Amino acid sequence: MTTRRAKPPPSRSALAGLARLAGEARERAHAPHSGFRVGAALRISTGEIVTGCNVENASYGLSMCAERVAVFKAVSEGLSGFDAIVIVADAPRLTPPCGACRQILWELCGDITVHLRTLKGRSRTVRLRELLPLPFDERSL
Ligand code: THU
Repeated sequence: MTTRRAKPPPSRSALAGLARLAGEARERAHAPHSGFRVGAALRISTGEIVTGCNVENASYGLSMCAERVAVFKAVSEGLSGFDAIVIVADAPRLTPPCGACRQILWELCGDITVHLRTLKGRSRTVRLRELLPLPFDERSL
């Protein structure tokens, strides 16, 4: 089971490194339908980093957000113990994870640091718990 305890936030320089990798992942986004490209970088407590980008489909509902791509890649590689995710998009406003991603992140990562950043360098750091108060999880089953 994922620990629900808050994990200590990464340093500013660690977040900057993650943001650079998320920005590179964003370049690989497949977003021909929305034109909205998103990159994510997920850090494992050991220091390993897994990235993701959004991958869209002409059958729109099949599209997958950058955050979920990163989490599913990591889990499929047998990784666990995540402590931070950085999400980068090119928009005037920050791009927080959608509702589905919040739920997935909560179940698989727990109360991680979520760092949002625009390409122009605007940023904000929150905990997942702030984005998903009163979550539904295995304790509710
Ligand atoms: N998207 C993400 O990848 N992450 C988010 O946090 C918000 C939205 C993607 C999904 C879709 O490909 C595009 O952005 C527009 O919604």
